Amino acid sequence: MRALHLPGFIPSLDALPTPSTRPPLPAPKKGQVLVEVKAVGANFFDILLVQGKYQYKPKGDFIPGTEFAGIVRQVGPGVTGFAAGDRVFGAVQVGAYATHVLADTHSLFKIPGALSFEEASGIFITYPTSYAALVLRANVQPGETVLVHAGAGGVGLAAIQIAKLLGATVIGTASSPEKLAIMRAQGADHVLDYKADDWVARVRENHAQARCRRRH
Ligand SMILES: NC(=O)c1ccc[n+]([C@@H]2O[C@H](COP(=O)([O-])OP(=O)(O)OC[C@H]3O[C@@H](n4cnc5c(N)ncnc54)[C@H](OP(=O)(O)O)[C@@H]3O)[C@@H](O)[C@H]2O)c1
Repeated sequence: MRALHLPGFIPSLDALPTPSTRPPLPAPKKGQVLVEVKAVGANFFDILLVQGKYQYKPKGDFIPGTEFAGIVRQVGPGVTGFAAGDRVFGAVQVGAYATHVLADTHSLFKIPGALSFEEASGIFITYPTSYAALVLRANVQPGETVLVHAGAGGVGLAAIQIAKLLGATVIGTASSPEKLAIMRAQGADHVLDYKADDWVARVRENHAQARCRRRH
């Protein structure tokens, strides 16, 4: 298989190697499937992890990558609910930045029909993170106002979409006009460039009566 194989931690993303040929993965064990990877997610923690700055630190050489979407090619002993040919998305601790990955079925879902591999590869980590913040912790109600900092990032975009589905008014902050446009396209009602705007004053001016709940 081909993979983004690292000899160890790297000092920065500039030091990322090109993908290389690696030995084929072993057959899936009990509870595992072998997935042909079609798309992967790139989260902030993936960038920390390759530099040895994340709380989980793989030992020795490793293939980074957590979120993926692809096609099941082989199922291990005892696996039920998945079969060769299924379109799936999921997560592994490391190893997804490769043409193939071994995944535990408890961290695997079938892709709902309409979603592409690219869309599905960004669901597993960011959406539950933002859902937990907005629903389980903040219990956002229709008509409330949600302020999403870093709204053009992965967690931020998921937060904007979920907050809108909950019926909230959403204010997003980001650092450039391009990112403001991305937040608007994903449903943010108000977008603020925190480098150009006095965003605290703008939030107060426009939403003095609103209850603002902060993420991050
Ligand atoms: N991915 C997850 O599911 C997850 C889970 C738990 C916690 N988190 C945490 O949530 C935060 C966002 O994660 P993410 O995966 O959504 O990140 P991301 O897609 O890389 O987006 C991060 C955003 O943060 C802003 N930012 C400000 N200072 C930055 C800096 N020094 N370096 C990089 N970005 C900076 C950038 O937006 P501006 O340019 O607009 O400032 C950027 O778009 C991180 O702190 C992460 O550790 C993430």
